Amino acid sequence: MKLRSQLTLAFTGLLIVVLTVTGYLIYSLILDLLIQDEKRQLEETGELLVSFLTEQYGNANDIHQFNQFLQEQELQLFLYDRNQDAILFSTMTNPVVAGFLQENNFADTRDRTWTLGSDRFVTSRIVFTPEELGWELILLTPMKDLHAVQQNFFSRLFIIFLIGAVLAIWISYYLTNKLVTPLSKLQRQLKKIEKRQFDDMERVRATGEIKEVEQSVYEMANELQHYMKSQQIFFQNASHELKTPLMTIQGYAEGIKDGIFEGEDKEKGLEMMVAEVNRLKIIINEMILLAKLETEKAYKPEVISGEEFINSVVDRVIPLLNERNISLEQQVEDNMRFFGDEEKLLRALSNIVVNGIRHAESKVFIHAYKEQKKKIITIEDDGPGVKDELIPYIFHRFVKGHDGETGLGLAIARAIIEQSKGKITVDKSITLGGARFTLTFTESNEK
Ligand SMILES: Nc1ncnc2c1ncn2[C@@H]1O[C@H](COP(=O)(O)OP(=O)(O)O)[C@@H](O)[C@H]1O
Ligand SMILES: [Mg+2]
Repeated sequence: MKLRSQLTLAFTGLLIVVLTVTGYLIYSLILDLLIQDEKRQLEETGELLVSFLTEQYGNANDIHQFNQFLQEQELQLFLYDRNQDAILFSTMTNPVVAGFLQENNFADTRDRTWTLGSDRFVTSRIVFTPEELGWELILLTPMKDLHAVQQNFFSRLFIIFLIGAVLAIWISYYLTNKLVTPLSKLQRQLKKIEKRQFDDMERVRATGEIKEVEQSVYEMANELQHYMKSQQIFFQNASHELKTPLMTIQGYAEGIKDGIFEGEDKEKGLEMMVAEVNRLKIIINEMILLAKLETEKAYKPEVISGEEFINSVVDRVIPLLNERNISLEQQVEDNMRFFGDEEKLLRALSNIVVNGIRHAESKVFIHAYKEQKKKIITIEDDGPGVKDELIPYIFHRFVKGHDGETGLGLAIARAIIEQSKGKITVDKSITLGGARFTLTFTESNEK
């Protein structure tokens, strides 16, 4: 069932229950109220009559006139003599009076409901003064009169309830509609996301929580679009990067096969092929590593001593330092500790240091220190530095300068450092003039 119908149905159900309970309570209470009110009225009328009669006719000496007067009142009443237990007068017909006498106890002086056959009557009894006289006026109202009033009242109540209910259901329908419409619009937008039609997406106007959901959906779509685009670029770059060495290999291989390269050229061609194959191997390995870093959760953090860590990095790059005749200086603050997957962090840092050595003129400087609860490692060199236009993208995959290799080294470094809850940035080295890479780890890295 649609949400709109569900909500309207639930509301209508609730309304019916509430109205029924209220209606029932009012219906049953109203009869009690009517009876009480009727009794009060009877009493008032009775008292008025009694005092009038007493005044007018003395102690009812002129009984005939007295009766005449009562007859004129269009009331159902008895004039009862307690002392003789006899009815002196009644405005009702004899069979009715006889019926009353038979079914009800006149001697019981309390006001109570009397019955006659299946009819019931509200009674009120007023005693004449002086009391010794023993006369009593008994006034009666048939319950069916009260029932008629009750019915009448209830029919009006019912009509009011009906109008109220229709109005309430209409308002509920309107509100539900207002609530549900943005949801169905949102659903259409989600369908567009499903079909990857990001450019056709429209904002949905909504309020409250639905607005928040809409905002999240919109952000999610943007994120997804961005992700898909980057994935696409990655595949394009990756195939381009893989294609270039493959074409070189193919060129040399065909040249050798067709006998175009002979002797020394052939030798050189084979060497080139081996070099390109190695390059391919490196690219593929780095791509696999990057993919693993993004998907695999196999990250084994441990406490690493700062000094040992930097020493290990330096050990790894000694051959390159010697080959390129670069001097490396390191400075590590005492008692520095890092927390992370040592093997991966070594990989990240050596990627950066190797870059530094490759671009340096003569010097590379590694500095590890603490600053305001942060642990910082900087790697500086005296090379040409990173070009300004490259800075915003340098950590992206396959981004490289004209002297670049795979363009994956810094992307890998960033992925590892972020996994270790760290941050990497690049700027210019103040002291050496080349590039400066800064790794910042917060205190939480310790745990
Ligand atoms: N220390 C540095 N000095 C100058 N440029 C650098 C330095 N480190 C990195 N770069 C530039 O950043 C690019 C990307 O680096 P990287 O991701 O390691 O890829 P690769 O080293 O395979 O080219 C490099 O091609 C280079 O142009
Ligand atoms: Mg590199």
